[in-house]
Amino acid sequence: MVTMAGPLTLQAIEPYLAQVNDLFARELTSDLDHVQKMSHHVERFRGKMLRPVLVFLSGLAAARRNDHPLGQTHITIATVVEMVHVATLVHDDVLDNAEIRRRGVTVNHLHGNEAAVLLGDLLISHAYHLCSSLESQIASRAIGRTTNIVCEGELTQNFNRGNWELTEKTYFDIIYRKTASLIETSCRLGAWASNADAATVEALGNYGRDVGMAFQIVDDILDIAGEQKTVGKTLGSDIEKGKLTLPMIHFLATAAPTHKQLLISLLESDASDRIDNARQLLIPSPSMRYARSRAQQLVDQAISAISDLPESEFQHILIDMARFVTARES
Ligand code: IPE
Ligand code: IPE
Ligand code: MG
Ligand code: MG
Repeated sequence: MVTMAGPLTLQAIEPYLAQVNDLFARELTSDLDHVQKMSHHVERFRGKMLRPVLVFLSGLAAARRNDHPLGQTHITIATVVEMVHVATLVHDDVLDNAEIRRRGVTVNHLHGNEAAVLLGDLLISHAYHLCSSLESQIASRAIGRTTNIVCEGELTQNFNRGNWELTEKTYFDIIYRKTASLIETSCRLGAWASNADAATVEALGNYGRDVGMAFQIVDDILDIAGEQKTVGKTLGSDIEKGKLTLPMIHFLATAAPTHKQLLISLLESDASDRIDNARQLLIPSPSMRYARSRAQQLVDQAISAISDLPESEFQHILIDMARFVTARES
C-alpha cells in the first residue's frame, strides 16, 4: 500500500487503511471469473489513498474523546470514497485515452473502453451499495450529491474541450466539482462520523475543499511539467485533449500574441511532437509559477480553515498534508 509520502506520521491510521483495502476487496468479490479478474486489477494498484486518509484524520481531529475515536462507520465511508474515486479514475482514463495509472496498465488499455466504462459503473454501484449499509441515510445522501457534482464537473470539462477562451472562473468551477467536492465530502463525513458539531464539520469540509482545489492545480502542473516515471500515470493528456488548465489559461491571457498563437496552434495540431513543444513553451513561462502560487494560496486558506479546531497531533498532520500537496511530485 502506498500512502502519502513526505514527512508525515500516519502510523496511527495504518491499521484503518489496511481495513479499507480488505473491505474494498471483499465488497468487489464476484463469482464471475472475468469480473473478478478486472476488479482484482484495480485493487492491486493502490494509489496514495488521500481520500480515506482524510476521512480518518478528519475523524480523529474532530473527535471529542481520545479512546477509539474511529469506528466501522469511518471505515465504511473511507472505503466508499475510495471506490467512488477509483470509479472516476477508470472512467477518466477512457476519456483521456490513458495507458498508465498507478504505475500499472489502465483498464481501458488492457480490456478496451467498453469494458472500462462498465467496470467504472460496477465500482460506483458497489460504492452506493456499501454506503447504504450505514444506518443513517446522511452519508448516502452526501455521497450521491457529491457524485452528481463530480459528473457535472466532468461534463463541463468535456463541453469546454477546445475552448481557448475558457476563463479561470470556469476552470475553478470544474476543479471544484470534479476533484475538490469528493475531498471536501471525505473530510465532512469523517468529522460527521465522529459526532462532531456543525462548525467542526464545516471547518474540516472547507479544509478539504481548498486542499482538493490545490491538489488538482498541482496535478494539472504535473500533467505539463511532471515526469511520467515519477508520477506513475500518463501525462500530457490535458494538452492532447485540448483541456485548458490554469497554466495554459494564464499563458493565453498574458503571453505575447505570437506565443499565444503558437500555443493555440500546438493545441490544435495533430503532429506527434505537439505535446513536447507545448510543454517546452509552457514550462519556462511565468504561468507555471502563477499556477503554483494560486495552489499555495489555497493551501494557506485550507490551513487557516482548521486553525480554530482544538489543537491535536491530528490537526498538525492535516496541516502537514496540506503543505505536502504543493510539494508533491507524484
Ligand atoms: C488522481 O487522484 C485524480 C485527481 C483528482 C488529480 P490521486 O492523485 O489522488 O490518485 P491516486 O488515488 O493517488 O492514484
Ligand atoms: C481528474 O482529472 C478527474 C477526476 C476527478 C477523476 P485528471 O484527468 O487531471 O486526472 P488524472 O491526471 O488523469 O489523474
Ligand atoms: Mg485524466
Ligand atoms: Mg491530471
